[in-house]
Amino acid sequence: MRNLDEHNITIEVLRRIKDTPSARLKEIMTRLVQHMHDFARETKLTEEEWFAGIDFLGRTGQLCTLTRQEFVLLSDTLGLSQLVVAQSHSRPNGATEQTVFGPFHVEGAPSRPSHGSDISVGVSGEPLYVTARVISGNAPVPGALVDVWHADARGEYDVQGTHWTIEQASLRATIQTDEDGRFSFKTIMPKSYPIPTDGTVGEMMQATRRSPMRPAHIHFRVKKLGFDPLITHVFVDGDEFLDSDAVFGVRGSCIGNYALNPPGATPFGDMSARPYYTLDYCFSLHPLTSAGPSTMWCLEI
Ligand code: BEZ
Ligand code: FE
Repeated sequence: MRNLDEHNITIEVLRRIKDTPSARLKEIMTRLVQHMHDFARETKLTEEEWFAGIDFLGRTGQLCTLTRQEFVLLSDTLGLSQLVVAQSHSRPNGATEQTVFGPFHVEGAPSRPSHGSDISVGVSGEPLYVTARVISGNAPVPGALVDVWHADARGEYDVQGTHWTIEQASLRATIQTDEDGRFSFKTIMPKSYPIPTDGTVGEMMQATRRSPMRPAHIHFRVKKLGFDPLITHVFVDGDEFLDSDAVFGVRGSCIGNYALNPPGATPFGDMSARPYYTLDYCFSLHPLTSAGPSTMWCLEI
């Protein structure tokens, strides 16, 4: 077909993908082309603007490395990540809600015992003792694999340091729940922090006058064969950014009570000369049914 114009080109592009063998890929490609073409027509996109967009996406890709995922950040800040998370996980029976994964998780964090380890050795901050339990319905979930990771008191993740390797892991761990579904660890109090703004996402946030701040939180991923893997945060109650999270990730049920305690005996039986915080939280897993959500890595353990 020749002499295509801005009105009939969409039909011709869709005709060219009509033989796509995968029905799902065909559906996604068809809707993508339709929405992109409609977007360009509705906004009367100019060549200059189109090129600026291509340049922006190209530079976003160039920023991506093993430890920096600018595209994840772009998806997060445009609300697409949380939209996909929300429509992928039904949460009946009070199961803990899912939130965005974010760009700072790494596989292979140091394995720690079920109880009592300090994942903040050498990091300054206000002491925090976390005691937690993983359940499903009313039953404990023993042997669940919990990944925990969070930022330091300046709002930086260990992976943001230059030339970071897993040997320098800090404020992150993997912990298995005990026979009663419980686990505990010591760390420092998380603080609210800005998402990275030194890349293309920062340009976008600045151009649209958006706040880059995230409310203080600790990330958790809980995996156990037979359950929908849980990726969530526990946010700090009272944080000033709970209603304006830059990545739209706050769920009411994921706000924890980080309680301030006077100096004295801690939940780990040691004495703290300083005031310290405690967080006691319960994660509730949703059993997987054959019709339930499927993921690749829920079968690993
Ligand atoms: C985070 O909480 O680590 C995070 C999540 C999404 C985007 C940026 C950071
Ligand atoms: Fe975070």
